[in-house]
Amino acid sequence: MPVQIILGAQWGDEGKGKIVDHLSENADIVARYQGGANAGHTVVLPPSKGKPEKEYVLHLIPSGIFHSHVICVIGNGVVLDPVALMTEIKQLKEAGIKIAGRLLISHNAHLIMPYHKMLDAARERGEEKIGTTGRGIGPAYNDKYMRTGIRVVDLLNRDVLCKKLKRNIEANNEILNKLYNSQSLNVDEIIHEYQEFDRKLDEYITDTSEYLSSALKRKKRILAEGAQGALLDVDHGTYPFVTSSNPTSGGACTGLGIPPTAVDSIVGIVKAYSTRVGNGPFPTELKNEIGEHLRKTGGEYGATTGRPRRCGWLDAVSLRYSIRVNGIQKIALTKLDVLDGFTEIKVCTDFKFGGKKLHHYPTDAQTLDAVEPVYHIFKGWQTKTSDIKSFGKLPKEAKQYIEALSKMLDTKFWMVSVGARRDQTLMVR
Ligand code: GDP
Ligand code: IMO
Ligand code: MG
Repeated sequence: MPVQIILGAQWGDEGKGKIVDHLSENADIVARYQGGANAGHTVVLPPSKGKPEKEYVLHLIPSGIFHSHVICVIGNGVVLDPVALMTEIKQLKEAGIKIAGRLLISHNAHLIMPYHKMLDAARERGEEKIGTTGRGIGPAYNDKYMRTGIRVVDLLNRDVLCKKLKRNIEANNEILNKLYNSQSLNVDEIIHEYQEFDRKLDEYITDTSEYLSSALKRKKRILAEGAQGALLDVDHGTYPFVTSSNPTSGGACTGLGIPPTAVDSIVGIVKAYSTRVGNGPFPTELKNEIGEHLRKTGGEYGATTGRPRRCGWLDAVSLRYSIRVNGIQKIALTKLDVLDGFTEIKVCTDFKFGGKKLHHYPTDAQTLDAVEPVYHIFKGWQTKTSDIKSFGKLPKEAKQYIEALSKMLDTKFWMVSVGARRDQTLMVR
């Protein structure tokens, strides 16, 4: 592998943190390519030196950070909230994780400013709310594409930083006051706070595209870590109920400054059922006791916002679309253990619309909202899978379920996760 892309194939929270941490053992570099602190990637570390097992939730720092030999890169495609990053660095340092010399931040990444979070919150109070994480993601990418954004490199030039900050704060004060009656922002206070980040972040800032290019020449093994999921992609997801970046595989190249020819393989992480946080169409959603059971057993509460996640059956129609758009070559299936004990497990195989089977994935939210899922029913298993140590030892019905999914999706399954810990990962033979 030169570059292996690891991405969420559904609506996020598939278990990217767990899988990337697991794969990092055999990687040299882990690089995040899009999104911001809207992500919440959970990594559970095993007990060590008398300390119990510990759970960490990462928002910006790549999930390879717990392997001391791994260098972590925050790419140009990320929108970086320096306040959130400093908090994360502090927490990791306090937990004894070495950061110095192991974290690189792209000089071209755009910064999230306090007014981005205010604009996000203000929009969410209106009619068109989509249930964002409130981390300022949309407004920050808006500035990027309006070409008025402030980038990490600007932190290193005080005059430029002050000029751009002043211009943006004044422009946004006007908007915030006019549209939402929001409080005003104090230009001097923000300039003072953000000038400080120059000193705090200087040691990490570099040309990460150049770094990755040189690493590729040295045959380093690079994992490109996606945030969110393909169905939240601004171009290919369930627009407008999406995030503002490209979690799909193409985003890894633009978000890291690496050529498509460097990409060796694309791994899709698929949760054994579906979840979604925030608004938007969700054809297989279960607003009943089965959905409740999945939420409870799977611990389906947002790692970033704590919001209960909407739960439903696995949706093979959306997955086939996701596999096609991303070019997914192999699947890491997560949270299989959450399905233990079900007598029946359903998988949506087709969508019907107006009584007829749909042959293409609907690209508008209205149609997707109105489709009727057609289900295939699998026999469940009654054995606890979380202690199982090899794929062959899984209950017969679980193996049949995975084999049938592989056929349904025309994609091979590479690994199966049966718990949040590293050692609860089974390689598929
Ligand atoms: P991410 O955003 O894709 O990294 O996923 P999250 O961390 O937001 O959510 C996944 C949750 O499931 C976390 O609490 C993980 O610790 C947990 N998890 C990951 N894999 C498994 C698994 O195979 N089984 C169970 N039961 N939990 C898992
Ligand atoms: P990870 O990386 C699940 C959802 C929000 C909302 C929409 C837009 O942990 O999988 P945003 O704040 O990005 O403008 O919100 O996207 N969303 C996520 N859902 N997991 C995430 O990240 C998400 N990041 C954003 O709930 O519906
Ligand atoms: Mg998450």
